[in-house]
Amino acid sequence: MAGEESARNKQVVLKNHVSAGLPKESDMEIKESSIQLKVPEATKDAILVKNLYLSCDPYMRNRMKKLEGSYVASFQIGSPISGYGVAKVVDSTHPGYKKGDLVWGMTGWEEYTLITAPEVLFKIQHTDVPLTYYTGLLGMAGMTAYAGFYEVCSPKKGEYVYVSAASGAVGQLVGQFAKLLGCYVVGSAGSKEKIDLLKNKFGFDAAFNYKEEPDLDAALKRCFPEGIDIYFENVGGKMLDAVLANMRVHGRIAACGMISQYNNEQLDAVHNLMYIVPKRVRMQGFIVSDFYHLYPKYLETIIPHIKEGKITYVEDKAEGLENAPAALIGLFTGRNVGKQLVVVSHD
Ligand SMILES: NC(=O)c1ccc[n+]([C@@H]2O[C@H](COP(=O)([O-])OP(=O)(O)OC[C@H]3O[C@@H](n4cnc5c(N)ncnc54)[C@H](OP(=O)(O)O)[C@@H]3O)[C@@H](O)[C@H]2O)c1
Repeated sequence: MAGEESARNKQVVLKNHVSAGLPKESDMEIKESSIQLKVPEATKDAILVKNLYLSCDPYMRNRMKKLEGSYVASFQIGSPISGYGVAKVVDSTHPGYKKGDLVWGMTGWEEYTLITAPEVLFKIQHTDVPLTYYTGLLGMAGMTAYAGFYEVCSPKKGEYVYVSAASGAVGQLVGQFAKLLGCYVVGSAGSKEKIDLLKNKFGFDAAFNYKEEPDLDAALKRCFPEGIDIYFENVGGKMLDAVLANMRVHGRIAACGMISQYNNEQLDAVHNLMYIVPKRVRMQGFIVSDFYHLYPKYLETIIPHIKEGKITYVEDKAEGLENAPAALIGLFTGRNVGKQLVVVSHD
């Protein structure tokens, strides 16, 4: 019957591009339409999914701009925005997927999405861990922390490691990976609650609230009297400058992201770059998708760690698509405590 085959499809739609400044909830709107719960017959190798959990990620800010020549494409005005998520297959014309399969990867900010290139998805095999983890710890953020720390930073036991935005989706994992390896780890974040988490839940050796430090250089010297071997860079701007002056000889900086710059019309200048010469510092940017071939290896390591309680993960769940725009924007004011995700449906 037609009534059984179609469903309401609530969507988060971009209303206009946002070039600079903090995005507003009113830059997005909630729309409702209906969708046939079947892949159209002529559409080969496609799947229709029901979205369960959506991931809020800082790079999505870039996609709200009108972009040219970027590694990601702009969101289309009037269309649902897209991002990483966890979903359940409702119908499939793809030989690799069947109804009921669980996947994570690129999907739409809506209740149901027709995915015509399921190659961008990962099939979820381990379901004895919280499914929401595939928006973070077992998904893109986890792979970012893993590849960024182990592949880009070339870490060694006993090294001094500094992580900024340390309580977030990526940072909390980098800190825990570094502790598991036997490093000395310091994190920074923007509230007392987050500093408590870093020290008491994630096991960082020390942590400071960068918003309460009038002199970032002094804060870093206090935490790292002998300097920093590894900086896992999530914020950029003034923090990067202060770190550059505190790196040790042969130090490494993994440039993962620079969230302090994403709303800026003009990017902050870096003043202390010269320090990388005498200190022979290697600074390397990276993009997680270049490392997805390591995902099976990552799962082999991380799933036992989760089950043995060696890794913990804090999530911040917004309930319902109506609350998705505020959750996304909250990343840029530090509203999220831990990995920000949106619950669209629990099953
Ligand atoms: N290279 C890649 O492939 C890749 C992949 C994923 C993520 N990333 C990057 O990794 C970084 C962390 O991402 P995430 O998903 O883990 O986000 P997140 O840390 O969970 O959330 C963003 C956090 O950034 C902090 N922040 C916001 N504005 C800031 C500012 N002006 N100055 C300093 N801190 C600010 C806030 O925490 P506080 O309260 O501590 O300020 C906020 O909670 C981002 O730069 C992101 O773009 C890169």
